[in-house]
Amino acid sequence: MANKRIVMVCTATAVLLAVGFANLPRGHAQSPDRQNSNDSRIERGYAIAPVPLNLEGKNRARVGLGSYLVNAVADCNGCHSAGPATQYVRGGNPYFGQPAQVNPATYLGGGRDFGPVVPNSPDIVSRNLTPDKTGLAEGGHTYKEFLKIMRTGVDMDHIHPTCSASVTTNCLPPPFDGDLLQIMPWPALQNMTDNDLRAIYEYLSAIPCVEGGPNEPANRCN
Ligand code: HEC
Repeated sequence: MANKRIVMVCTATAVLLAVGFANLPRGHAQSPDRQNSNDSRIERGYAIAPVPLNLEGKNRARVGLGSYLVNAVADCNGCHSAGPATQYVRGGNPYFGQPAQVNPATYLGGGRDFGPVVPNSPDIVSRNLTPDKTGLAEGGHTYKEFLKIMRTGVDMDHIHPTCSASVTTNCLPPPFDGDLLQIMPWPALQNMTDNDLRAIYEYLSAIPCVEGGPNEPANRCN
């Protein structure tokens, strides 16, 4: 009898699953425009944003989620500040046992030097992710460009090309591919959903501009 009961349970489960799947709308990819505004990460994102946000013309839910992903999950500023010495304001360094207070002056402005990937190659330095005077995130990049960078790791500024017979200075020796961002954890971040990457872009459009930018066309705020 036990076998019969198992068969019955299995059949019931199969029917339930079939009905369940049949009820799912086709092409159920989460639309970036349908950000669930009840998502608790949105409010948390606003609570932890370390800089004032410009919400003009922005999608509020996306900015909040983006802040959550940037500041609580992916730690973009851990690498995209100017470096450990100035990442936190004086008296606000958590590694000194002080309550953490991020330094707004260097927030996502880039400039942290990670040194060379191999001796005698250029230092890898994080880039400025803040908006420029156009208001577009990441130094004036469109969302389409940003998405491409995050999904493929392409270095659109070609700051350190691959060394070759004709390129011998400021280049990365093979097998390193100089067209690709180094250190930047795009091989992991590329797996994020469109929805999350869109939210990160929206948040990066809402943060204050930081002037300059090491090793790249300098960011202009005005
Ligand atoms: C482990 C350190 C690290 C983390 C964490 C990190 N980045 Fe980066 N990122 C870098 C470095 C270093 C570069 C420059 C790489 C190079 O020059 O090859 C870079 C480059 C970039 C670029 C290219 C900029 C340009 O001008 O083309 C973008 C966009 C970017 N990062 C976005 C992000 C975002 C968004 C996050 C968080 C979700 C993030 N990064 C987290 C280290 C990091």
